[in-house]
Order: sequence, then structure tokens, then C-alpha cells
Amino acid sequence: MRTLIAGNWKMNPPGLAGAEALARALRLSAARAVDLLVCPPFTALASVAALLRGTGIALGAQDCAATGEAGGAHTGEISAAMLRDLGVSHVILGHSERRAHQAESDATVRAKAVAAAAAGLIPLVCVGETEAERRAGRAQAVVAGQLAGSLPDGFSGIIAYEPVWAIGTGLTPSAGEIAAMHAAIAADLATRFPARAAALPVLYGGSVKPGNAAEVLALAHVGGALVGGASLVAEDFLAIAAAAR
Ligand code: PGA
Repeated sequence: MRTLIAGNWKMNPPGLAGAEALARALRLSAARAVDLLVCPPFTALASVAALLRGTGIALGAQDCAATGEAGGAHTGEISAAMLRDLGVSHVILGHSERRAHQAESDATVRAKAVAAAAAGLIPLVCVGETEAERRAGRAQAVVAGQLAGSLPDGFSGIIAYEPVWAIGTGLTPSAGEIAAMHAAIAADLATRFPARAAALPVLYGGSVKPGNAAEVLALAHVGGALVGGASLVAEDFLAIAAAAR
């Protein structure tokens, strides 16, 4: 499996021109030994899709509707089929910011993963414990619960382990803590999806930067990185990709 470096642009850059400039800067990058995925906001997807066509850089969205309908009376929602139509191949689901601020439950994330897969999108499902949960020694149990509740039967896609307390903070778990969690996730997946667990990449996310990427990406069971802040600077995002070689 090739390493995947995914950029979660979140609600950035604030203007379309900024998103286009970022896509242009990534387009200039040389041949890569890793797979790249960028996930701009919905409003920039069409422009970024046009700019990245033919580069081999995959395009993802940051959410999709939970309904399996391609269209319908769902004000404000965007269906997985609509995203697919734009050239989107992946969709981030259950990011901790959506779990916290949009009150997304495991059941909602699971329904979205089903809808995404039905439309031909690859779901990228995020899990991760809060600081309090880690302090209480419950990190692995919390993540196991999120995996059990968020991944539908027959899941085919990507998982991102993102400790909530490491996102956007500059803090990261130790290499040992990341390795232990990824080993636990790999064991979980092997139990639940014996036939396909080896084909389910598990990314690490949370303050991945050019300076720590090589160490994180070299860990066993780490299939790549989900990068927030550093994905907004093309040079940093590509430096993270280069660190994976
Ligand atoms: P960060 O965000 O790299 O800025 O910590 C990661 C994420 O939220 O996916």
C-alpha cells in the first residue's frame, strides 16, 4: 500500500483565489512516491478539480449528506453523488470538529460512510480521543468504540486516528503512543474485517508538520497522514510528502 498524505483544508483559505493559488502550487510538485489527496471546502471543489486534473492528486470533500439519495428535499445538504459528479473521489467523515460542533454521532458517521460508498466515494473516517479520555486511560477504548459505531459492515475506505488534543495545538502523542494506538486499531480491523483489514490504510493526524512527519510516517501500521494546518502551505505539505519516502 502506498503512503497517503491527505490535506484537510477545513474552512480555508477564506477566498476562492487562495484555494486556487494553493492548488496551483501543488500542481508544480514533481513526481511523488506517495499518494496525495487534498480536501478543500465545498465552494472550492470545482475550481480545484479543474486545476488538479491530470496531476494524480486526488480530490476529497470534508463531509457529505447522510442520506443515500442523490437529490431531494434536504436544505443545505450536499449528497455524495453530487460530490462524485464534481470529480471528488474521497470524503472525510466524522472529523472531531464535526463530532464536537455539529454533534455528529457514530451512527451519523456510519450512515454517511454508507452513502459515500454507495455513490462511489472512498470514505475517510476520523476517530480519536479527547485529552480527558487519554488522561483517564480510556484512549484505546474510546477509539475502539468509535470504530465499532462509525464503520459500517463491509467497510472499504480509510481511517484517520486523530487525537482531539493534538489537532491544531502543536502537541503530538509520543511515537510510542501513536504506535500503540495504530497497533490496537490494526488488531481491531483484523478482527472485524479479516479479509480486507490489510487493505484499510490508517492515517495519523494531529499537528503533523515537516519536522515530525518522517518519525510518524515510519511507525508500523501508520499508512500516511491527515494534515490540517500544514496542508495550507504547499511547501510544508509537499515536505511532509517527501518525508514519507
Ligand atoms: P492539524 O489538523 O494538522 O492542524 O493538527 C489535523 C486535522 O484536523 O485533520
